[in-house]
Amino acid sequence: MRVLGIESSCDETAAALVEDGTRLLATSLASSAAIHARYGGVVPEVAAREHTMAILPVVEQVLQDAGLNRHDVDAVAVTEGPGLLGALLVGVTFAKGFALGCQVPVVGVHHLEAHLYANALVAPIQFPALGLLVSGGHTSLVLWKTHGELTVLGETRDDAAGEAFDKGARALGLSYPGGPEVERLAATVETTSLHLPIANLGSSSLDFSFSGVKTATTDLIRSQPHRQAEIAYALQAAVVEALIRNVSRALSRYSVDDVYLAGGVTANEFLRHRMQQLGREQNIRVHIPPARYCTDNAAMVASLGYYRWTRGIRMSYLDTPRVNYPLGQQ
Ligand code: KG4
Ligand code: ZN
Repeated sequence: MRVLGIESSCDETAAALVEDGTRLLATSLASSAAIHARYGGVVPEVAAREHTMAILPVVEQVLQDAGLNRHDVDAVAVTEGPGLLGALLVGVTFAKGFALGCQVPVVGVHHLEAHLYANALVAPIQFPALGLLVSGGHTSLVLWKTHGELTVLGETRDDAAGEAFDKGARALGLSYPGGPEVERLAATVETTSLHLPIANLGSSSLDFSFSGVKTATTDLIRSQPHRQAEIAYALQAAVVEALIRNVSRALSRYSVDDVYLAGGVTANEFLRHRMQQLGREQNIRVHIPPARYCTDNAAMVASLGYYRWTRGIRMSYLDTPRVNYPLGQQ
């Protein structure tokens, strides 16, 4: 079963071909991030326009790289939401047109749930598990019982983890996306005596809050302008420790042996290191996808599309993108 995955929810236009949800045949991606960098964040109209120009070449490239043609595709999976409406519309409309032309079904997938499926391309998922989704727009901790059964345990009440990096980076005069820039600057120092606070929402809460870190970062930059690298280090440590704390709390409440990480922030080496450390301490397995599948891609979309297809989920030609698509809903 060969699934063509299409991703266009934000600033990456991506296509991939995946067999049986696990075997990656080819992947292709065009990013408009460099254009948005000038504005310090993604400009929705610009993203949508770039998707319309990139989508066909990206799909043609992936077919060519796999040595296949469109008649070898058995189903099309596409990110249905959440995301930017104009951006999603390009992917969804293209997916429907392609599928209609080839007489194959279309399966809509949830972008964040798809991020978790970057792990399925590495090895079969071991259920039940915890999933930690950390991206530029979302921070969610989920109990993942089996394919299609996810319960959200905790979410951010304000900024997402990636957003904390992006806003902190902007305050430090670094470019967008800020995560990799903060990580690079933080790596130039060994440690710091500077401390940034982690919001405490009560010991029973598995929610996150990152807006306070942003304000504290700005204050620190003003009071200690010559300690930029140390501030980057403290910012990274604060965000990562908030994530570790809630995963650790969830592990004490739910009987799971596996934790799966996903989303752009998972590319962060400090987070990877601290999560693996937690895994050793708590005797659980921590799974982190290769960095190239942590950020937006279509392989994860094709993988989840396959599993949804096996459960009979199909998109109708009348379906439109689901901009606010709650995680856990099918
Ligand atoms: O999942 P993603 O590619 O896009 C969505 O938001 O859906 O995540 C992008 C986010 C950005 O906020 C970016 O700054 C962050 O992931 N990010 C990182 C790193 N690489 C990307 N954050 C920290 N460290 C990194 N190395
Ligand atoms: Zn994403």
